[in-house]
Amino acid sequence: MTAARACSIAVDGRFREEILAGLARPQKELPPKLFYDAAGAALFERICELDEYYLTRAELSILRTHAAEIADHVGPGAALVEYGSGAGVKVRLLLDAMSAPAAYVPVDISREQLVDVVGVLAREYRHVSIRPVCADYTLPLTIPDLPRRARRLGFFPGSTIGNFHPAEAAAFLRRVRRVLGRDGAFVIGIDRRKSPRVVRAAYDDRHGVTAAFNLNALRRLNREFEADFDLEAFAHRARWNGRVGRVEMHLQSLSSQTFRVAGEHFTMKQGETIWTESSYKYDVDRLRRLVIDGGFRIAQLWTDVKQLFWVALLQVT
Ligand code: AVJ
Repeated sequence: MTAARACSIAVDGRFREEILAGLARPQKELPPKLFYDAAGAALFERICELDEYYLTRAELSILRTHAAEIADHVGPGAALVEYGSGAGVKVRLLLDAMSAPAAYVPVDISREQLVDVVGVLAREYRHVSIRPVCADYTLPLTIPDLPRRARRLGFFPGSTIGNFHPAEAAAFLRRVRRVLGRDGAFVIGIDRRKSPRVVRAAYDDRHGVTAAFNLNALRRLNREFEADFDLEAFAHRARWNGRVGRVEMHLQSLSSQTFRVAGEHFTMKQGETIWTESSYKYDVDRLRRLVIDGGFRIAQLWTDVKQLFWVALLQVT
């Protein structure tokens, strides 16, 4: 797996610059991709099992119900490109439904998890050519050569599109569109807008798993970016921002303090926060606008029985 070598983001200067620039802003920010080291990927798997975190179960139920329709839509011999393959659970539903998939390209930022998942899937799906790419898909990325004539199906589950601000989400869709080509299709998971109480609980669970996931960003900075955060001096916060329809995760400073990251010093007042993630929740109008801005049209839009989540089948326009 040669692509994996380029993936140690600790040595990636761009990632370091992004972190330092975010911490230098009046509202301090860290990029959510920072969450996904090995410990963070494991914590995220635990989040997916929480009672409060309805997203994963809702999406899986939709995919189970409609995988055959997705497979019919793309036809036999398609190449599947997954953005953020994670634990490799959801993709099985598509691989099992598809007729003779030509290739599977999992793209993920968590190297350890990518290596593990590819090992397991390669044994189970011997007829599929698996070509992993360890990369940050928020940046332009190169996909390895895919079988020439294979139709391309992109897959972006989990409502991770919600981590992008709307303009970035549209720009991301336009980049994916170029990868997928003229007759490409894209299956994407989107969390629906719903009661703020339900959303907030999903991002602030009673067992504190989400809090640990959020704080793990600082632990990682301590380990990989010569930072000296005192984890006890920060608390996890989840806030619903109804004006723009997003839940925000923050790390709130419990005292006035200074810290150091990669040779630079920063100060925080008591109560000030580091904004670590946004998760946009879409209503149908905003979703339509996003899809059009991104150069796609909605071919199918499916929801679950509780109407919590959407899986959209998009077609390149
Ligand atoms: C994996 C990005 C979709 O935004 O819901 C879970 C990550 N953050 N709990 C989300 C997450 C807090 C998750 N995504």
